[in-house]
Amino acid sequence: MPDDSIKIDTIKPEYAKALEQLQRDCFPTLADNELMSEAHFLNHCRLFPEGNFVALARARVVGLGSGFLIDFDFDHAQHSFQEIIAGGSYSHHDPLGDWYYGGDISVHPDFRGRGIGSSLYAARKEIVQRLNRKGIVAGGLIPGFAEYKDRITVQQYVDRVVAGELRDSTLSFQLSRGFAMRGLLEDYIEDAASDNWATLIVWENPDFKRD
Ligand SMILES: CC(C)(COP(=O)(O)OP(=O)(O)OC[C@H]1O[C@@H](n2cnc3c(N)ncnc32)[C@H](O)[C@@H]1OP(=O)(O)O)[C@@H](O)C(=O)NCCC(=O)NCCS
Repeated sequence: MPDDSIKIDTIKPEYAKALEQLQRDCFPTLADNELMSEAHFLNHCRLFPEGNFVALARARVVGLGSGFLIDFDFDHAQHSFQEIIAGGSYSHHDPLGDWYYGGDISVHPDFRGRGIGSSLYAARKEIVQRLNRKGIVAGGLIPGFAEYKDRITVQQYVDRVVAGELRDSTLSFQLSRGFAMRGLLEDYIEDAASDNWATLIVWENPDFKRD
């Protein structure tokens, strides 16, 4: 149900400090070097403000949906998080890039399950459609995998999540919001919960038109 105390805004310099804290609150299992800082968020404001979104509960910053445009090469899809986000600066942003690369989507733990993540995805989809780009691609974490990693392989884990037999707090949510799983990314990110794995997830813009 829409929550009218929550607003989605585009990123602004005054949110940068709070966004740095939000990273720590949202990603307790990520290595420190994987978290983005105030300086990174200031760079996102300069590079692509119309494609980076912040969720506000009144004046409080409680969510982030950030990313940049890139010509993603699906024939050479393996990459690490730090490589593609250029250490957090998003400096690979190409205003003419075909794909929106989702660098981060995160909602403060106290505000989850209230539709904020869905609103952030809707904002991303809207900018992709407005700019007529092919879609959204991202490396999706699988925070539920650590609990299973001694019993089943990562491929078996994601197959079971895709089949709906297991629920992963991130992958199940992304699948329910129209993303498809296109493969696995090994050593994507230093994250104890995902055992350093990620899924390559893709949302294709149904309205994309070639010029
Ligand atoms: C993934 C994430 C962004 C979703 O944000 P959110 O604001 O909770 O998303 P929504 O409220 O729009 O939707 C959550 C969905 O999960 C479901 N859900 C099930 N159990 C839940 C739980 N314990 N808490 C929250 N949502 C739950 C909700 O019902 C909802 O699905 P539905 O609308 O189809 O019923 C958020 O959980 C998060 O920040 N996770 C940690 C960071 C992360 O892993 N980010 C992704 C990196 S790839």
